[in-house]
This record gives sequence, structure tokens and C-alpha cells, in this order.
Amino acid sequence: MRKGTYDANSNGYKIIVVDDEPGIVDSLSIFLKRSGYNFTGVTDPVEAIELVKKEHFDLMLLDFIMTPLHGDQVVEEIRKFNRELYILLLTGHKDLAPPLETIRRLDIQGYCEKSDKFDQLLLLVESGIKAISQMNLIKEINEELKDANQRLEKAYMESIETLRYTVEAKDPYTRGHSDRVSEYSVLIGKYLGLPEEDLKILRIGGLFHDIGKIGVPDSILLKTEKLTDDEYSEIKNHPSIGAHILSNASIFKDIIPIVKHHHEKYDGNGYPSKLKGEDIPLFARIAAIADTFDAMTSKRTYRDSLGLDIVKAEIERCKGTQFDPKLADIFLDILNNHYTDIVEIQSKYL
Ligand SMILES: [Fe+2]
Ligand SMILES: [Fe+2]
Repeated sequence: MRKGTYDANSNGYKIIVVDDEPGIVDSLSIFLKRSGYNFTGVTDPVEAIELVKKEHFDLMLLDFIMTPLHGDQVVEEIRKFNRELYILLLTGHKDLAPPLETIRRLDIQGYCEKSDKFDQLLLLVESGIKAISQMNLIKEINEELKDANQRLEKAYMESIETLRYTVEAKDPYTRGHSDRVSEYSVLIGKYLGLPEEDLKILRIGGLFHDIGKIGVPDSILLKTEKLTDDEYSEIKNHPSIGAHILSNASIFKDIIPIVKHHHEKYDGNGYPSKLKGEDIPLFARIAAIADTFDAMTSKRTYRDSLGLDIVKAEIERCKGTQFDPKLADIFLDILNNHYTDIVEIQSKYL
């Protein structure tokens, strides 16, 4: 049976009182409404559970000894679908209070002995409401922060995307290169069993690994003849330029190692830092294989794409010198036994 509903003068907080004694519900109704709360009273514990499913309440005052369900059983049911409701248990006599273990397990926020005076109960309700309002405020701030972060992340991604397209527009022969490097890197990551957040880093890192080429003169970038030593060292600046461009946005901090170190070689003869072996960040070692594989399998002005057998032989030959041998083996396994995964990627970016 529903005993009370909306109070027009309420302070906005909704309290549901559940007690199988109508007299208690009535007195609490008068008392809580007078204190400005939006009051709902229920004498049937089963109905109370249903009501909490349908409506939002901030706080529940719950009798402990009731039929057909005791207060702790009511909480047990409610906690299956609602962890947020602030619950205060009302007990008849001290010795009938539920054990502390039950209160903790069911996430009951407090309990109070029934008495004719409601002072203690009111204090408990008030501190409960304070906790709820703090919790709501934190939730709101979190949501706002999440929104702002997402907007910021999107804006950064868009501006870097523009930069990437500018790089790729300069040189039609590298178009699609970053997309494929990104996808090959993720593929290797998947075969390594890396978690989703690592795959995200590999995906974005692959997309932007050559972003620093924006800082290399077109005359060098697009030159089809052999590069002079000076020109080659200008090209070799692109990982550091890329890392520098991305260093302005903290959201890119995880992908900077890929951008900066995708041209390092396992034997220490790469650039820019001459890192060796596992000193090269794992994601950069992965991107290095993906990058070289794409370079070998793409058409260039001066040569056709290389045949798969030649590519495999080259990866095998460079195991331990250019590539991390374990990662090279994993990639060779993909080429030998899961080649359809590669074809699928290639067909997306022709
Ligand atoms: Fe590169
Ligand atoms: Fe590249």
C-alpha cells in the first residue's frame, strides 16, 4: 500500500520509507515532509523493490524486521540493480540489529534505532543527503570533464588528421601508407594478445608515424633520384619533427614513442636515437615491421611492389638486425598462415 506522494514544498530530495507498520510511515511522513523532503511511504517491502526499479529515490529508510521480507533481504534485492541508493536501516531494538558484516556486504550506509523522537534520525538523514549531494556534484563534474576531454581529443585528432592528409597529398605514392601501417600494427598487436587500449595506441601511432614529413622539403621528399647524404639526413629528421609536433598535446603522449622510434633498428643502427634491442619501445618495434612491410609491398615510381616471397626472405634476413626477431617471427607467421588478414587490409586502401 502506498502511503504518501509528492510534497510541493520539498527540497527536491526524494526519500522512500518502507515499514510494515502504517503508524510509523505516517509519523515519518509528517516529520520528513515538514523538513522539506519529497516523501513516499510504502508498507509492503515487495512493492518497495518494484517502486525503486521504476522511480528514482535518493534515500531509503528501511525497517529491518518486516514480513514477508526482512530489511536486509530488501536491500539484497535492490543492490542487484541499484548500487547508488543511499539506504538507512531502522531497527526496533539494539540486539535485533543486523551484524556489521551484513551492513557492509549490502552496502547499507547506516542504521538507527527507532524512537519516539526523530532527532537522531533526522541528523542521519541530513548527513546522508549531504553525502548524496556531494556524490551528485562529483558525478556532474566527472561527466563535464569527460565531455570536455572528448571534445578536446576530437579537435586534436582532427587537426593532426589534416596535417597527415597534407603530408600524404604531397606524395601520392605514399597515400594510404599510414592507414596500412596503422592496420598492420594493430594486426600484429592482436596476434600478440595486447589489450584494447594498446591496440588503440598502435592504431593512432600508425596513422601519425610519418607526420614529421610535413617538415621535410618537398624537393627532397618527392625526389626520385638517389638522395645525397645531406638530403638523406634531412629525411631522417622526420621522426623527431613528428614527436615534437605531437608533444604539444598530452593526449598523444602514448603514441610519441612510435612516431619517434619507428626507424630504430634492433641492432642499434637506426635513427634518431640509435636505440638497441628492447630499449626500443615495443610499439615502435611493431610499427617498424609494419612500416617496412608496407614500403616493400607498395609501388614506387622507380620500382614495382616486391613479390611476397622476396618480402618474406627480406624479413627473415633482417631478423635481429633491423627487426625484433620475436616480432618478425610473429609477422612471418601471419604472412604464412593468415595472409587473408593482410589482403583484407590492402584491399581497403588501394
Ligand atoms: Fe617514417
Ligand atoms: Fe612510414
